Parts: sequence; C-alpha cells; structure tokens
Amino acid sequence: MAAMIIKGSEISKQIKEELKLEITELNKKYNVIPGLATILIGEDEASKVYVGAKEKACKELGIYSERIDLPVNTTEAELLAHIERLNKDSKIHGILVQLPLPKHINEANVIDAIDPKKDVDAFHPINVGKLMLGKPNFLPCTPHGIQELLIRSGIETDGAEVVVVGRSNIVGKPIANMLLQKNKGANATVTICHTGTKDLAAHTKRADILIVAAGRPKAITADMVKDGVVVIDVGVNRLETGLVGDVDFETVKEKAKAITPVPGGVGPMTIVMLMKNTVQSAKMHAGIG
Ligand code: GUN
Repeated sequence: MAAMIIKGSEISKQIKEELKLEITELNKKYNVIPGLATILIGEDEASKVYVGAKEKACKELGIYSERIDLPVNTTEAELLAHIERLNKDSKIHGILVQLPLPKHINEANVIDAIDPKKDVDAFHPINVGKLMLGKPNFLPCTPHGIQELLIRSGIETDGAEVVVVGRSNIVGKPIANMLLQKNKGANATVTICHTGTKDLAAHTKRADILIVAAGRPKAITADMVKDGVVVIDVGVNRLETGLVGDVDFETVKEKAKAITPVPGGVGPMTIVMLMKNTVQSAKMHAGIG
C-alpha cells in the first residue's frame, strides 16, 4: 500500500493564504496590525534559523515583527526588563523567547514574566492549565500544527488509539492533552510512552495514530508499527547525512496509511500556527470575536 504523504509544506501554505485574508480584513475594517516580538539570546545556530524563519513569515503575512537579539551574557534581570516593556507595548500582541536559554537564566522565571495574553507559545502555567481544562486561550504551536495536519488530511481521531512517544512540555504532554479532549479533531484514547516505558514496541504496534517526538533519529522502525498506521514524525535530527526524523521513513512508509516527511511535515506547521496565534491575540486585544 502506498502511503499518503502528509505535506505540511503544502498545508501550511494554504493556512498562510487564509491568514493573509484575515490580516488584510483586520487592517481594513479595524485598523489593527498584529505584532510579534521575538527574543533570541546568544549564538545558537539552530535557534537563529528558527527565529529568522519566524521573522520571514511575519513579513510575508503582513504581521509587524520586532526582533531582539541579545548577547549570551545578558542577565536574567535584563531579559525580564525587555519582557516587561513588551508586555506594555500595544503594538505587540505576541512575545516569544526562543528556547533553550543560556544556563544562567531560569527558564520558568522568564516564562512566568510573559503576559499570558501575549504568550503565543502557550508555555505560561496559566495557559498550560487552561489547555488541560479544555479552555485554552492559545494552543501550543507544534501540537496545534499536528492537529491541523490530521484534520486537513481527513484522518479520524474520534475513538482512535493514539500513541505519543515523548513527554516534553512543548510537544508530548500538550498533544496528548489536546487529543483526549471531547472536541472535533480529538476524542481519542491516548497513551504516552517515554524513556521509562518497559516495552515501547508493544504500545506503538497498537497505534492507529503514532506521534513521535522522542528526539532520537530513526527510533521507530517498520517492525514497531501495524499496517495502516498514520505516523506523525516531529523529530528534527541534524546528521552528517542531512535532516532526519525520529521515524525510519523509508521502511515505515511501506506499512503506513499516511505519514509526514522530515523535512516538510510538522516543521512548517509550527511556524504558521505561531502566526495564527499572533493574529488571534491581536483580535482578542482589540475585542474582536
Ligand atoms: N525552541 C524550540 N521550539 C520552540 C518553540 O516552539 N518556542 C520557543 N519559544 N522556543 C523553542
């Protein structure tokens, strides 16, 4: 069976077009321009690429963007002062501090300082709690991107056995939480596997939908999945041979009904969902339903 390749690169373009229309209308009808501030500390090459891609997407869509690049020796107090200023800036509706931070800065203090109404990453404890209660302000970008990929590819989640591999706060925990809500594009039976799981393959073989965010190249092989599985690969591993996911794409695709590639799968969706959250925040700040 030839697997359907779920092309995040195509689906994200479609969502960008929808957002462009929404932004034009916001501008014309309400004189509102959504604004996103990104803060990058230090010289991490991968982080620079991510922040650059976010800035480019803002330009493309007509979102005002403010990029703040700070040296690696910036103090926590200095960073908090930037966040404080951006919390008060009415041009800014979204604040994103690129992670990871240098070791001398406490990540929790920084996330706590961001106004939850401008927390377009949805990392603030208030937003994490609201998500868990099924009443989110913002959906976290990568999990939201995954859910959109499933919905727009016509994959039924209602009653599906979903297995998530990885328990990070950015992907594993929130996607598991979102898919178990009693909502459209959710209502699944969810299992989370992690490094403490005794028999990983026993779980992954049961999955109708397998979501892998393990951070280990080719951790999932064909013998670990059942025929007809839908596979979402969140992995981004930079090897000498190039970029690979957490799933052995070439062999697993022979058994799968549908599968995301790396690159061009989940990655482009994360950025477009950040743009969507920024637009949503601008509407919330302007009191537009
Ligand atoms: N670092 C890796 N992924 C992310 C993300 O989604 N948001 C932020 N702020 N930092 C990241």
